[in-house]
Amino acid sequence: ADAARVPALVIGSGYGGSVAALRLAQAGIDVQLVEMGMAWDTPGSDGKIFANTTSPDQRSFWLRTRTKQPLSNFLGFPIDKDIPKYTGILDAEEFSGITVYQGRGLGGGSLVNGGMAVTPKRENFGAILPTVNADEMYNTYYPRANAGLGVGLVDPTWFDSAECYQYARVGRKQAQRSGFPFVFVPDVYDWNYMQQEQANTVPRSALAGEILYGNNYGKKSLQKTYLPQIKATGRVTISPLHRVSSVTPAAGGGYAVSLEQLNTSGAVIATKGVTADKVFFAAGSVGTSKLLVKLKATGALPNLNGEVGKGWGDNGNVMCGRANHIWDPTGSLQSSIPCGGIDNWNAGGAFAEVAPLPTGIETWASFYLSITKNPNRGQFTYNPATQGVDLNWQTAWKQPSIDMAKSIFDKINSKEGTIYRTDLFGVYKIWGDHLTYHPLGGAVLGKATDNYGRLAGYPGLYAIDGSLIPGNTSVNPFVTITALAERNIEKIIATDF
Ligand code: FDA
Repeated sequence: ADAARVPALVIGSGYGGSVAALRLAQAGIDVQLVEMGMAWDTPGSDGKIFANTTSPDQRSFWLRTRTKQPLSNFLGFPIDKDIPKYTGILDAEEFSGITVYQGRGLGGGSLVNGGMAVTPKRENFGAILPTVNADEMYNTYYPRANAGLGVGLVDPTWFDSAECYQYARVGRKQAQRSGFPFVFVPDVYDWNYMQQEQANTVPRSALAGEILYGNNYGKKSLQKTYLPQIKATGRVTISPLHRVSSVTPAAGGGYAVSLEQLNTSGAVIATKGVTADKVFFAAGSVGTSKLLVKLKATGALPNLNGEVGKGWGDNGNVMCGRANHIWDPTGSLQSSIPCGGIDNWNAGGAFAEVAPLPTGIETWASFYLSITKNPNRGQFTYNPATQGVDLNWQTAWKQPSIDMAKSIFDKINSKEGTIYRTDLFGVYKIWGDHLTYHPLGGAVLGKATDNYGRLAGYPGLYAIDGSLIPGNTSVNPFVTITALAERNIEKIIATDF
């Protein structure tokens, strides 16, 4: 039978995919937006759409039978537990030397992330995307992304007295006493809503520990920004629980796209074919890389160039905790949304978010997620034996990140007379060096693609997500992913349609 035909098909509904779908539809082009995760629009048996971090259930993890929480231990005890296998929201995808956390569902990573919405310092941009015109980015596309995402800043006066940011004020005081600049970090959380949470006049979300498995109220994920606009165009067909398994040139022009429809246990319940004139890969750095590497190796897209799969980095992520003195409590009520960081990027190669430990009890712990200038880059390759895609990252490649993070925390510990916590990632383990939240690269701009994301070898195929960025953004990445997508889609709509 003749497969359906669409002018444009977008694979994945995170930042890149949402920008592409919205701008194409606004330009009058019909789009099919394919997302392998769920729509996340229906409450569970507890009346809430998303599960809390303190009580993970089947909604929490993508097709796992046991949770794999980023902080695996509490007071030295392992905290993971069995759960039913389900198309849940957070994927802890395990490669040989690293676990890559990613969001699954309509809205991609925006469903699970901390919402920290940081535009890199202009002086660092040349190292992030060397072939992109910085004037255009800082005059047009970063502002467009910030507006579209609803980025805002905590009110500094409220911050100074809010109980839920005691942990961040301790972080600020200690950073400043050691001579490091503390900077407020913008976020897409609704700050007015958070003030009402603190005042106990609305249901709590950030102040109830919601984050990794979704926020039920205050966070402006893509479900509250780009996705409603996408629906309002009337031109976008959204297909949740559909996974793209193949893309190959179609006989009559365009591309034949194979889709697998999943049930909530992850089983394939139907396979479908669509022919698309143009296909946008927005499955995230890992998802896009895995598809492209496999399609090249298996002969579906043999003319992709040899850069596909290369240039992958972890944004230098590394975590650690510090034990404070008894007179420096960090608070039993902690907002799950971080709002400040310690900037030692130029001197020490590290930008450390002062992160919460929303356990509900006083822990006297300060917790940090550092983004570092780690130079190591991995590569995805096809493995014929497993018919899967491997990543050659090694855990030891995090050592530069640890050294850079120590440029901040060794100094603070020495100034404060404090020590590292050793009970958060195992038994006597200081560094959370086993994971990243910020996968970047694998279809690098100007290498696997031209300077606007057009994939080499195949007119009408594009990468438009975190895979374009070569491994590091110096800050949290989603504003840069969004801004780059806004830049690229504008050019593509103007010249390719
Ligand atoms: P993204 O990963 O968002 O979307 C890809 C989508 O494609 C997913 O929904 C996926 O299910 C889908 N997909 C994959 N393969 C598919 C296939 N074959 N077929 C169909 N669909 C497919 N960043 C930041 O700037 N500030 C922050 O505070 C944080 N915090 C944070 C916390 C945690 C826990 C995580 C996991 C991540 C963050 N991040 C973050 C990172 C940020 O969320 C991430 O960089 C972006 O979501 C990446 O956007 P993309 O558009 O590249 O892909």
